[in-house]
Amino acid sequence: MNLHNEMVEPLSDETGEGSRVSVWARIQREARIAVRDEPLLGALIHAGLLHHSTFEAALAYRFSLKLASREMSEQILREIADDAFSCAPELGLAAKADLLAVYDRDPATHRLMQPILFFKGYQALQSYRIGHWLWQQGRHDMAYFVQMRCSEVFGVDIHPAARIGTGVMIDHAHSIVIGETAVVGNDVSMLHSVTLGGTGKEDGDRHPKIGNGVMIGAGAKVLGNLQIGHHSRIAAGSVVLMDVPPCKTVAGVPARIVGDAGCADPSNSMNQLLGREDLF
Ligand SMILES: CC(C)(COP(=O)(O)OP(=O)(O)OC[C@H]1O[C@@H](n2cnc3c(N)ncnc32)[C@H](O)[C@@H]1OP(=O)(O)O)[C@@H](O)C(=O)NCCC(=O)NCCS
Repeated sequence: MNLHNEMVEPLSDETGEGSRVSVWARIQREARIAVRDEPLLGALIHAGLLHHSTFEAALAYRFSLKLASREMSEQILREIADDAFSCAPELGLAAKADLLAVYDRDPATHRLMQPILFFKGYQALQSYRIGHWLWQQGRHDMAYFVQMRCSEVFGVDIHPAARIGTGVMIDHAHSIVIGETAVVGNDVSMLHSVTLGGTGKEDGDRHPKIGNGVMIGAGAKVLGNLQIGHHSRIAAGSVVLMDVPPCKTVAGVPARIVGDAGCADPSNSMNQLLGREDLF
């Protein structure tokens, strides 16, 4: 996988020795095979992927389909998303980086089309990105609407003012909460039931700042305006109330340092083992 030129390995049955294909070409190929193998999903896969000429158009369709309600039509949401992708090309690039992050790190992801069609963590993150774009345009109420629908539909509640880097994976994604002044770096991986929240004792800048390449385990609560150093790991179920230096592992309630991060790049390797030195 190469994030920078957006070219990926072809499927194994494709021709062209050594040739690489674009992310979108690979997704379309996967979609055609999926329709062949499961015709009952033909309509869904056609409408969601094969019908579109670009990756961004497919994402805009998915966003509008999932978040539309009796209060807001699919058409209006689709226009908003199309606008966002054409005014801010970095949204499409971020969406590709997130997609490749899921593909690379989640062992249950075997095709690039899976997160777009089936994974709510990915869909919620792309919805947040459109909400954040609206927020940056000063369209705060529309951004709040997107936040509300994202929370209702996916169980992922991310304030549209929060800042989230690229190459981010939110796996499983039940019950994610990310507060208004939180910052999440690039290449972060988090599991379900993570809260990046305030302590309730501070106003203003009150939420955590998560460094690049951090891995945050399921159920971890990171509370307050804390710095979590690059490439650290937060164990499942921890309550983190203090800064964490780079490349460390913290665990427990309240969390304490239990060892080094175990590898240089825990969010990418999804290394979830505590080494022997971590145990003592
Ligand atoms: C409980 C709470 C209000 C802090 O209360 P407090 O009395 O001001 O506590 P302090 O921050 O002074 O900490 C006192 C001790 O309790 C510990 N502590 C604080 N919050 C804790 C928590 N949630 N779990 C376990 N221990 C906690 C601290 O580590 C400290 O331990 P120490 O004395 O050994 O160092 C706060 O930490 C909390 O949990 N707020 C809820 C936040 C929340 O739900 N946020 C989500 C927003 S989306």
